[in-house]
Amino acid sequence: MDIVNPAVSDYLLTHCTPADDLLRELAARRAVEVGVFTGYSSICIARGMPDGGHLLACDVSEKWTSIARRYWKRAGLEERIKLRIAPALDTLRSLPDEPVLDLAFIDADKGNYPHYYEELVVRLRPGGLVILDNVLRGGDVADPAVQDGGTVAMRGLNDLIAGDGRVESVMLPVRDGVTLARRR
Ligand SMILES: C[S@@+](CC[C@H](N)C(=O)[O-])C[C@H]1O[C@@H](n2cnc3c(N)ncnc32)[C@H](O)[C@@H]1O
Repeated sequence: MDIVNPAVSDYLLTHCTPADDLLRELAARRAVEVGVFTGYSSICIARGMPDGGHLLACDVSEKWTSIARRYWKRAGLEERIKLRIAPALDTLRSLPDEPVLDLAFIDADKGNYPHYYEELVVRLRPGGLVILDNVLRGGDVADPAVQDGGTVAMRGLNDLIAGDGRVESVMLPVRDGVTLARRR
């Protein structure tokens, strides 16, 4: 399912002012992705980075990320993306404790989302963005009768982000719900 019809998307791109050199220079340079799978979103993120940008891609699966690696190479992005095969929480906790990240994308095991968010939000630079996928859980977060671990964790995290003074946030009703939280 496309968010915007591809023909409409192409039309939009040819009818807006392209980014100038200054905006290109401002684009995200340091990004982290939690949950790689076969590499689709990491290619999208890495393609949007300027020269010198790098993406730390975290996953536990050798099997799925071997496909990602193949496609990163085909996309000419293998220099830009560094893969770390380990539980993502271990990888995030091993990162320097400094606010240097421009972008973080969380799209892995739902029960750990609150921990991923905490580890990442403190490492975002002011203006940096954390993006979380599947925040609506097919609508289950709005149904108090649903009490499985993943939904409870997501509900708690959605509440936390909505009241988190460190960020400005918006929850977009796109597909399964996407939250954008921008570090103040
Ligand atoms: C939904 S897929 C990611 C999809 C990818 N972001 C995309 O849009 O193309 C979730 C991925 O999270 C990974 N994953 C699950 N638990 C994990 C963990 N504890 N640490 C790191 N990765 C994990 C899985 O191996 C899987 O590849």
